[in-house]
Amino acid sequence: MNNFRYHAYTDIRFGKGQVACLPEVLAPYGKKVLMVYGGGSIRKNGLYDKVKELLADFEVFEVGGVEPNPKITSVREGVAICKTEKIDVVLAVGGGSTIDAAKLMAGGNYYDGDPWDLVTDSSKIGKVLPIVTVLTLAATGSEMNKNAVISNMETNEKLGTSSHDFIPQASICDPEYLYTLPAKQTAAGTADIMSHIFEQYFQKTTTAYISDRFAESLLKTCIHYCPIALKEPENYEARANLMWASTQALNSLLSAGKGGGWTCHPIEHELSAYYDITHGVGLAIVTPRWMRYILNDTTVIKFAEYGRNVWDIKEEDAYKCANMAIDATEQFFKDCGIPMTLTEIGIDDSKIDLMAEDTIKYNNMAGAYVALDKEDIAKILRACL
Ligand code: NZQ
Ligand code: ZN
Repeated sequence: MNNFRYHAYTDIRFGKGQVACLPEVLAPYGKKVLMVYGGGSIRKNGLYDKVKELLADFEVFEVGGVEPNPKITSVREGVAICKTEKIDVVLAVGGGSTIDAAKLMAGGNYYDGDPWDLVTDSSKIGKVLPIVTVLTLAATGSEMNKNAVISNMETNEKLGTSSHDFIPQASICDPEYLYTLPAKQTAAGTADIMSHIFEQYFQKTTTAYISDRFAESLLKTCIHYCPIALKEPENYEARANLMWASTQALNSLLSAGKGGGWTCHPIEHELSAYYDITHGVGLAIVTPRWMRYILNDTTVIKFAEYGRNVWDIKEEDAYKCANMAIDATEQFFKDCGIPMTLTEIGIDDSKIDLMAEDTIKYNNMAGAYVALDKEDIAKILRACL
């Protein structure tokens, strides 16, 4: 196992009615709260009113309308309010996009230049305002991690940045808030959770046995509960298990003792940067094609292990087992209702070479599980058409 730092300090309040803890959770940080939210789902499901009612004794400022694939323009709006109103704490109420935008607002408060600088160069992130979240979508793990992904549509860039101080101080995770999620977001969110697990599971390190067993149990949880949540959107156990799986999938637990670059995320970020697509949909499309592309005499053992431990495939021949596992992965996403080709989501081959080039430009693809160059990425994307 490699050396690692695991400092999980987020105060998670998980379960029904936990939003009632919000005043207690925010109180240590001050009275001036910047409440950040998305395009209106929290107004429709009553969460907006509930939060406002609970924060009656706080001075609440608001930034609404944060977009999926949050844009730097929304971040700039929030930073301006933080600075003029001398905000004490940033409260994100929503999915990963809202939380990520809130993280940049919290960091931008202490930065003199344009907050986009903090996206392109994480070493410029200094002090960060305390961040608290109320999660409404199980996908990104942003409620307990140090990452934020922000888009700049003027430059066709969607980039990740991170700071230890972006880790939220507290996150309220009530599975009942997932009941109103459309099927598309439930499925895309699950594909995102699974992709986070794959990115950490398929790595060169072979000695982190414990991390890989955690990973397999989280994958099994997604495979078991996503179809139930899709069929019965108000099934509490399904929503609760998916919500906890998403938090655990990307909070450093699975990467402990492992290392190396990611693959499908960098590729998907280019699809989103050029076409503004739903993150989890792009990942579901790319993942099985990537798996097939990198299957070789070295990786086959790991893919067969994935087939046996996650999909309970009994086949003894490693290649057959690996291929069956990859097919099962693709079929699972299809059965969840995710469009499984780029063509279906309106993407043709006109920008594939450009996106392949940008993937290499912004990411260490040489350090991935199987090193990929520009041509490899273009081939994987063409297989997705
Ligand atoms: O904007 P509103 O109206 O709230 O609607 C949202 C949005 O349209 C809706 N939604 C959220 N909760 C809902 C709901 N609708 C009904 N009921 C609810 N309870 O769902 C739509 C998508 O929301 P979004 O926040 O964009 O989804 P998600 O949580 O999947 O976040 C995706 C973003 O996170 C980034 C992605 O790249 C993408 O930009 N990621 C962030 C990561 C991180 N911080 O660690 C890692 C990930 O790999 C990922 O890259
Ligand atoms: Zn993701």
